[in-house]
Amino acid sequence: MVWTSHPVKRLAGAIRAPGDKSCSHRALIFGGLADGESRFTGLLEGDDVLRTGQAMQAMGAMVTRTGHGAWEVTGVGSKGLASPKGVLDFGNSGTGSRLLMGVMAGHDLTASLTGDASLCSRPMNRVLNPLRQMGLKDTAGQDGKLPFTLTGSKTLKAIRYAPPQASAQVKSAVLLAGLNAEGETVVVEAKATRDHTERMLQGFGATLSFKMEPSGAHEIALKGGQRLQGLDAEIPGDPSSAAFLIAAGLLSPQGDVTVEGVMSNPTRSGFYDVADMMGAGLGAEERGEAAGERLIDLHAGYAGLKGIAVPERLVASMIDEFPILAVLAAFATGETQVTGAEELRVKESDRIGAVVAMLRVNGVGVEETEDGFTVQGCAGLVPGGGLVETRHDHRIAMSALVMGTSAQKPVSVDDVSMIDTSYPEFMGHMATLGADIRS
Ligand code: S3P
Repeated sequence: MVWTSHPVKRLAGAIRAPGDKSCSHRALIFGGLADGESRFTGLLEGDDVLRTGQAMQAMGAMVTRTGHGAWEVTGVGSKGLASPKGVLDFGNSGTGSRLLMGVMAGHDLTASLTGDASLCSRPMNRVLNPLRQMGLKDTAGQDGKLPFTLTGSKTLKAIRYAPPQASAQVKSAVLLAGLNAEGETVVVEAKATRDHTERMLQGFGATLSFKMEPSGAHEIALKGGQRLQGLDAEIPGDPSSAAFLIAAGLLSPQGDVTVEGVMSNPTRSGFYDVADMMGAGLGAEERGEAAGERLIDLHAGYAGLKGIAVPERLVASMIDEFPILAVLAAFATGETQVTGAEELRVKESDRIGAVVAMLRVNGVGVEETEDGFTVQGCAGLVPGGGLVETRHDHRIAMSALVMGTSAQKPVSVDDVSMIDTSYPEFMGHMATLGADIRS
């Protein structure tokens, strides 16, 4: 069903950031592998995370909702997961499926995995290849696409692995397999990616070691055979979801938006750094800590932005924020260039193609390249009036709806159902700020 975001003069208000998606997946997975009980508050109840909970439950952990965002997990202990009865359906979730492939590799179990059309078209060999080296068996064949069946092993071998892509999911899958492997598993990252697996595993009592190589590469090492202990934790607010609200505040002529309790972690903060380089002048106030992460309240008011060349060193730390960055670039004065972001081709959609189409259909000049795009900013006057194909991609849908709040004409999207995968409260939060989004 088509939904349309109509231009409004003022977006204002304070919103508590929804729980971080990456941390929510990890909380349910690590809780399910731990000895004893874990309790979480502020967990994201998006479809992606719920499916991870269902998968853990199907393999023997007890995952119970005790209130809004409040969940209890009774873990099975290390090597305690068992073959699930039915097929595990991960829906749209790359994170849930790939992290659990690593977990399954180190268990004596067989599981069949599937997902929606988007997930079944995404590359899984990036995770399967290192896991095969460790001892995983699979029916994926050469193309490495879901659906397929995995058989784990109690006698997994540790490896030293340097992923060819900057991917926290690949790093995490290998480290999680390493938890049950014989020997020390080492992941060598050329570029640092989000470090929630490392931080949260330590919160659950695991020991990891870190080393910087002279080349600047970063080593993460973990000895097999460690046990995790149950943890009580609050899930920090999601900087990727907060980015939509912050962008809305920056573009709104009388914008005055505060997002509370946002996780501030250098491996996730690239969008905010780039927005400031464009002239956003974001305000930040300390808000304490959650699950070992620093929290801040972020404030955005109207800002006349200017285009920039996005530094490639920041790409990994804003990998999910390029669709909404493209919207900021459309409103900015001058050109914004994105390079070194080829990973966008294999997200929930081909996000380079989807972003370019989103801007073009709304009258914004944009050029597509293999590893990015270049936007000709409209100096505040984005024509709008287009119907955006969301391509089953939640972040394209939310970006287009934010664009509509301050464009010259309304912006429509062909579907909003996927927004539930990562940010089920998005429509409510936008309405609280004063947005006019209707079907
Ligand atoms: C995630 C890692 C990133 C990111 C995804 C969440 C994670 O994917 O895009 O939304 O929680 O580890 P890649 O590992 O494919 O870069």
